[in-house]
Amino acid sequence: MAETYDRTRGDTGNIVALEHVNVTIPDQRPATAFYIAGMGFTRDPYVQVGLDNMWVNIGRSQCHLPNGNPQRLRGTIGIVVPDLGELAQRLKKVTPWLKDTQFGFQAHADRIEATCPWGNRFRCHAPSPEFGPAELALAYVEFEVPRGTTEGIARFYREALRATAATEQRGSDALARVEAGASQQLLFRETSDPLPPYDGHHIQIYLADFSGPHRFLIERGLITEESNEHQYRFRDIVDLDSGKPLFTIEHEVRSLRNPLYARPLVNRNPAQTNTAYTRGHDAFRGTY
Ligand SMILES: [Fe+2]
Repeated sequence: MAETYDRTRGDTGNIVALEHVNVTIPDQRPATAFYIAGMGFTRDPYVQVGLDNMWVNIGRSQCHLPNGNPQRLRGTIGIVVPDLGELAQRLKKVTPWLKDTQFGFQAHADRIEATCPWGNRFRCHAPSPEFGPAELALAYVEFEVPRGTTEGIARFYREALRATAATEQRGSDALARVEAGASQQLLFRETSDPLPPYDGHHIQIYLADFSGPHRFLIERGLITEESNEHQYRFRDIVDLDSGKPLFTIEHEVRSLRNPLYARPLVNRNPAQTNTAYTRGHDAFRGTY
């Protein structure tokens, strides 16, 4: 009995995984240039392979891109990539294909900020212990929320979803930090900037205790869809005293018995080309 451990470091809250972000797009061609050729992610080869939707694999998570008017997440999607230098090279290479779109990127010493053809913002980081062991991951989604809402948002996640959530200060901004799996987070950063209206995009999470939050939400009239046995949806994060909405983002909530839970995702090595090819290195070989 020589060694002792801080066992609380192994605790996670009720959200087991942040699996996907869903934004509709009007055209798969620029999406392919940005997400696949530029960002280096992998189109799911098994599901949604037609022209009306595409699923894009990022380690154990995905972006879902059904056809529709362009939607824009009200915040930033945080990604871990194995190599920022190689990412910058790829983004530079796809720039001519995306010249008439909102695409752009800026390389900083510690990260790359990239914007998709329709204005969705991605912040790409190198692997780091703060994001867990993964070298390719959807690490967080950081929403921009009105001033004075983060305490109520953290309380909502703790009491409604039974998640681990707390507030902290990041620079001059208050932030609610919600654990969304072993190494993933939902972040809510207060801003004074006006928010665009909510356009219907969504995130998807898996819950261990699936029925408890459902009971809590249905008692308050917050369930917006009883999708099926393994899934429901809600949109409003509310102040639990007043019932007033603090922020709106549709959550697609699934149980661990959903057949899609933890399905193995194909990830490729984007460094492979026909002219710089290494036999046996087609698959992504890092940790994810
Ligand atoms: Fe979804």
